[in-house]
Amino acid sequence: MFPKKGASEEEVLKELEEKTSMDLTFDSGRILGSMCTYPHPLAVEVVRRYIDRNLGDPGLHVGSRKVEKEAVGMLSNLLGLKEGYGHIVSGGTEANILAVRAFRNLSDAEKPELILPESAHFSFLKAGEMLGVRLVWAKLKEDYSVDVRDVEDKITDNTIGIVGIAGTTGLGVVDDIPALSDLALDYGLPLHVDAAFGGFVIPFAKELGYELPDFDFTLKGVQSVTIDPHKMGMVPIPAGGIIFREKRFLEAISVPAPYLAGGKVWQATITGTRPGASALAVWAMIRHLGFEGYKEVVKHAMELSRWFAGELRRIPGVHLIREPMLNIVSFGTRNLEEVEEELKRRGWGISAHRGYIRVVMMPHVRKEHLEEFLGDLREVLKSLD
Ligand SMILES: Cc1ncc(COP(=O)(O)O)c(C=O)c1O
Repeated sequence: MFPKKGASEEEVLKELEEKTSMDLTFDSGRILGSMCTYPHPLAVEVVRRYIDRNLGDPGLHVGSRKVEKEAVGMLSNLLGLKEGYGHIVSGGTEANILAVRAFRNLSDAEKPELILPESAHFSFLKAGEMLGVRLVWAKLKEDYSVDVRDVEDKITDNTIGIVGIAGTTGLGVVDDIPALSDLALDYGLPLHVDAAFGGFVIPFAKELGYELPDFDFTLKGVQSVTIDPHKMGMVPIPAGGIIFREKRFLEAISVPAPYLAGGKVWQATITGTRPGASALAVWAMIRHLGFEGYKEVVKHAMELSRWFAGELRRIPGVHLIREPMLNIVSFGTRNLEEVEEELKRRGWGISAHRGYIRVVMMPHVRKEHLEEFLGDLREVLKSLD
């Protein structure tokens, strides 16, 4: 009910404290199955200070708009591009929708179709539905990466583009993006890489010596990349990123936005009014941690993943779905549904879908949390024998 009279600030905060006491929190170390994390304190401070900035009206917040452009520039550099075009958006979903929108608007296909791996994130379902684009699913190989031959078989005159994934949501698999890029070039199609998760992992992991496929703009067929600072970038929600290689993609999705207090502009994002603080926080985190800082974050996450996978291998009744490529470890167990239910009852933030439990080594996940989790897993499995 909408209250007739207001309550004091103290009362309101107390009520909220009570209501949210049933939430799992990232700093408790109990959330193991999420791609979000507790944001870095600097990013939290930046959001607090610049909470009123609206990039939907960039004529008012000229400085913030400049910072967003710099943030997009730094993300482009990380992805192997001297100068890129894009925005800090609400998340991977919006970024993927913008890429599909650009591909559709630049294509003259009568019945637009997009080819994407069966492992693609459900955001593409929204994109397909909203944009009237038929989704054509390409099969996966045994290692859960997309079967590039199947992608090729599915290309028709109506194909508007191809999607590859650098860090799948379920297993953290990086598709053979170099082969997809060659295919895209051969057929004159744009390739979108969904690196919502992997974008803030792969460049650093490669530098650390992990063998991973190239996935970014250094591959000539890649026309756009989704990269989310609110995942491994440690920026508060909402902060996604869409980067295009060429300006024409951004222009293809820009509409005139009149009546703004700051003057008429062209707007490409799905959201109109949008948080400038997010873009400033992205800029601040990159400026603060730099390549070396993020490399340390990723080093910890990758090492923890290898250790955790090794521990799981030693538990009878548990099997890894595949060797981890990034900092995601997914495993199956006997009696999976009961195991999931009991682990949840014990307060673990995990989920089982497609026949496995996924653990994401986000920056808030530490070895002691995983040791406790493994102890519970062993106990639960025993109790169900
Ligand atoms: C690969 C991938 N793409 C896109 C998304 C969607 O991102 P968001 O939830 O920020 O919209 C996710 C989310 O987990 C993802 O894993």
